[in-house]
Amino acid sequence: MRVCSGWRRFLIFLPLIFILPHFFSVKQLHYNSNVEDLPKKKQGNKSNHLVLGPAAGQGLRNRLQCQGIKALNQTHSSASSHVSSGVDDIAFVTVFTIYNSTVNGRADDQLSHLVTVGNASYTKVERSMAILNVFINFIQVSMPRSNVVILTDPESDLSMHRNGVTVHPIQGEYSRDQLMLQRIRSYITFLETKLEELSQKQGHNHHYIFTDSDIAVVDDLGYIFREYPNFHLALTFRNNKAQPLNSGFIAVRGTSDGILRAKIFLQEVLKVYGSRYMGASRMLGDQLALAWVVKSHPSFDAKKFTKALAFIEDLGDASVLFLPCALYNWTPPEGAGQFQGMPLDVKVVHFKGSRKRLMLESWNFYNSYSDISDMLCLILKSGRTKYDF
Ligand SMILES: *[C@@H]1O[C@H](CO)[C@@H](O)[C@H](O)[C@H]1NC(C)=O
Ligand SMILES: *[C@@H]1O[C@H](CO)[C@@H](O)[C@H](O)[C@H]1NC(C)=O
Ligand SMILES: *[C@@H]1O[C@H](CO)[C@@H](O)[C@H](O)[C@H]1NC(C)=O
Ligand SMILES: *[C@@H]1O[C@H](CO)[C@@H](O)[C@H](O)[C@H]1NC(C)=O
Repeated sequence: MRVCSGWRRFLIFLPLIFILPHFFSVKQLHYNSNVEDLPKKKQGNKSNHLVLGPAAGQGLRNRLQCQGIKALNQTHSSASSHVSSGVDDIAFVTVFTIYNSTVNGRADDQLSHLVTVGNASYTKVERSMAILNVFINFIQVSMPRSNVVILTDPESDLSMHRNGVTVHPIQGEYSRDQLMLQRIRSYITFLETKLEELSQKQGHNHHYIFTDSDIAVVDDLGYIFREYPNFHLALTFRNNKAQPLNSGFIAVRGTSDGILRAKIFLQEVLKVYGSRYMGASRMLGDQLALAWVVKSHPSFDAKKFTKALAFIEDLGDASVLFLPCALYNWTPPEGAGQFQGMPLDVKVVHFKGSRKRLMLESWNFYNSYSDISDMLCLILKSGRTKYDF
């Protein structure tokens, strides 16, 4: 239903130690012994381990071809993307908060909701921290020169000591009901800060990519700023009448023009959210508001959403680049519907809903074998399973 939608569950605060063990020693052996080849019916149908189904898109041109979890196509020329230095730096910005409000639920949380991925067991909060860490891991692999900024509630005790990662507290109302609204507010505040810094020529110039934290960046995204030199902000779309736009990926060019126009655009989205969609489910309001703002421009032709091709539109003063979800926000459909497999040049995989287990499993796999293409086969074969996350 939702459009390549985001991770909207944020969890309760507990102190934690995050461990990222190195899991597997012999690839095929491990995956043969711990993986089911076909989904079995289980209680609640939620699997607590990897389940591989058939790979969609086999025999289709420009779709990843897999033999087991061995990729027959090299998806990314990893060498070329990493040497594209000297160009603009990019900062990924995500909103992440942990709640400490249910201190009484602590024992319960720790004892009854443990999930195990590889060697590690996680409480709910540890799970969300593990996902945040894996989000950062993939960025650091695919775009080693980029930074990560975590926008968070000053009340939440989030600390993150990793190179290239900053925690940026922004005052606001981060309760679950308000989170998607607050997220837009936090983005706007962040852009205002950057505009201010830019006007004082402080700090370093960055492009910004605002994303959900349950995504894996698997290729260099600096490409979009070079390939399309004139857009102010970029959004991802797909062919879905009710919800063509996803709020989980917003790129902003790091010029004062880009930042200013993006800020004004988001302010409009915020206004529409507040006036029209407060009654919508807390998960959907921002996406509905985004679509409303875009479609309210008389020149905009929504037919362009039917083809998975990037295009640019001037909406008011903002030049907006529309990027296909198929490449920039790829997620397999849940359930039994048809889908066309995975494009060879996929850049962002979105581990929507219960696929967050698969996100951690994928990182463990990559961490052991350093092969993005094989990992993408694992994701392609497993992405429709319902997991216990
Ligand atoms: C995980 O388990 C494997 C096999 O049981 C073991 O070889 C490996 O050392 C463990 N890793 C960690 C970090 O505990
Ligand atoms: C879940 O299990 C039920 C009953 O066993 C079955 O009817 C249903 O098709 C299963 N759903 C999925 C997605 O596997
Ligand atoms: C992907 O690999 C398959 C199998 O080796 C091959 O037939 C196909 O041409 C490759 N696709 C591309 C675009 O290279
Ligand atoms: C959460 O923790 C912070 C810092 O420890 C504290 O200031 C705040 O009052 C706590 N919030 C709740 C709801 O307990």
